[in-house]
Amino acid sequence: MEKHGFAQCLHDCKGPEMKDPAIEIHDLTMAYREKPVLWDIDLSIPKGSLCSVIGPNGAGKSTLLGCILGTYKPANGWIKIFDVPRDQSQELIGFVPQRESVDWDFPIQVLDVVMMGTYRSLGWFRWPGKAQRDWAMQCLDAVGMADFKSRQIGELSGGQQQRVFIARALAQDTKIILMDEPFAGVDAATEVTIREILIDLKKAQKTVVIVHHDLQTVEDFFDHVLLLNLRLVAAGPTATTFTRENLLRTYGGKLTLLDEAAEAVRRIRSGRSTGKRG
Ligand SMILES: Nc1ncnc2c1ncn2[C@@H]1O[C@H](COP(=O)(O)OP(=O)(O)OP(=O)(O)O)[C@@H](O)[C@H]1O
Ligand SMILES: [Mg+2]
Repeated sequence: MEKHGFAQCLHDCKGPEMKDPAIEIHDLTMAYREKPVLWDIDLSIPKGSLCSVIGPNGAGKSTLLGCILGTYKPANGWIKIFDVPRDQSQELIGFVPQRESVDWDFPIQVLDVVMMGTYRSLGWFRWPGKAQRDWAMQCLDAVGMADFKSRQIGELSGGQQQRVFIARALAQDTKIILMDEPFAGVDAATEVTIREILIDLKKAQKTVVIVHHDLQTVEDFFDHVLLLNLRLVAAGPTATTFTRENLLRTYGGKLTLLDEAAEAVRRIRSGRSTGKRG
């Protein structure tokens, strides 16, 4: 990206000061073995938003979620969760990992996976009891997987596994939930279920940050968007940030993705930017 463009971009990204953000990131640089993969990230995510993280493969999207979760320690900069520094924050953050990062052969039953979501609220030396079990069953029911409670996780389809991991995040009952590509490889029915869950989470004023690859559905699902390609290209409300110019900056040079971007922009231009899916 040429220099003026990036400087302009940073200016655009910062925008007006956001009141009461759920997540605030300043000057963040993250490196794996001294090789930076995220540079100079400055952004805020509004409380109660459904926020999408978009960018090509290797753009640093999962890494960004890892920094917010506290799994990775940035080389520079800071993250605040509800105005408290990440490393001092006791705030729990729910997480649905990217499918490829999970060992699906691990011998564990569906209900036990979801019960894991309740452990941190229990504290040391306490075993989950009936209340936790009932709550885990409610969360499984919410994703339409209650009938599968005794199945081994490795015996489920990809979409079913995804639902179980979403149930585990719901069981954590946190104010912030991060999901890494929850829609990847799921069928239409699972997509509808996940979307309904997102609507419920929004109603419950949770802040949900989702890595998302399908540019066609960004406008329909999300009210806030982060465009990332090692640096932050743009961040803000979907209506003003999910633009042709920003998409081209994010995916620049990759023809197939550009086609996808162009198609998404055509949809915006054809007046379907009302937040409803036709
Ligand atoms: N544990 C690691 N050690 C070293 N490098 C890593 C590690 N994890 C990721 N990377 C590198 O960091 C960069 C960003 O990776 P990341 O997984 O965050 O990208 P992503 O945007 O989530 O990509 P994808 O869309 O493929 O999931 C990539 O170049 C990747 O190879
Ligand atoms: Mg990833």
